[in-house]
Amino acid sequence: MQLTSLLPVLLSTLSLTSALSTGQAANWTATNFQLECSPGGCAYRFNISAPASENAPSFKTYCEGLTPNATACANNTIIAAVSPLANPTWNVKVQHEWHVIEEEYNSEATYWQAGSANVTETSKAFLIKPDVFYGVA
Ligand SMILES: *[C@@H]1O[C@H](CO)[C@@H](O)[C@H](O)[C@H]1NC(C)=O
Ligand SMILES: *[C@@H]1O[C@H](CO)[C@@H](O)[C@H](O)[C@H]1NC(C)=O
Ligand SMILES: *[C@@H]1O[C@H](CO)[C@@H](O)[C@H](O)[C@H]1NC(C)=O
Ligand SMILES: *[C@@H]1O[C@H](CO)[C@@H](O)[C@H](O)[C@H]1NC(C)=O
Ligand SMILES: *[C@@H]1O[C@H](CO)[C@@H](O)[C@H](O)[C@H]1NC(C)=O
Repeated sequence: MQLTSLLPVLLSTLSLTSALSTGQAANWTATNFQLECSPGGCAYRFNISAPASENAPSFKTYCEGLTPNATACANNTIIAAVSPLANPTWNVKVQHEWHVIEEEYNSEATYWQAGSANVTETSKAFLIKPDVFYGVA
């Protein structure tokens, strides 16, 4: 499905330098973060929203999944992955994908913005500052 083709983007864009960045990225706000571990693995859930910025549309969604795999959020243009760092820290990566019709070129461009935050199990709310911006026309 779609998700498997997006996963490499989520992982690889984090090591790319900004391709098309213009203007200031908006902070994304995660709230209601919860992490529950059992012998079978850890389940996470959180809400995340972003205001519209100069170069990206706004979004607001609810994410849940199992560590460490990338999983689409309720709005599947947003993908999240939570993975363990040194105890008790967790890395939360979020990627947003959107499409823009480029009338001038009669084509559709796809953009991704991604960022991550390091949090602990007791974090309830945190900011993600997207630090990669990537697009293909
Ligand atoms: C994002 O949050 C940081 C820390 O709170 C703040 O310094 C920065 O100005 C914010 N950026 C924007 C674009 O709002
Ligand atoms: C988080 O998302 C859920 C599901 O969409 C919603 O019911 C809940 O009100 C949201 N919580 C906050 C704090 O926005
Ligand atoms: C994570 O993805 C791998 C590879 O697709 C899969 O083998 C594994 O079962 C997944 N783990 C979870 C917890 O979904
Ligand atoms: C999902 O998010 C996109 C922004 O990436 C927004 O345009 C779209 O309306 C959202 N879909 C739903 C069902 O909320
Ligand atoms: C999270 O922690 C890792 C490992 O310490 C570090 O490489 C990374 O830069 C941190 N990420 C953020 C967003 O602070």
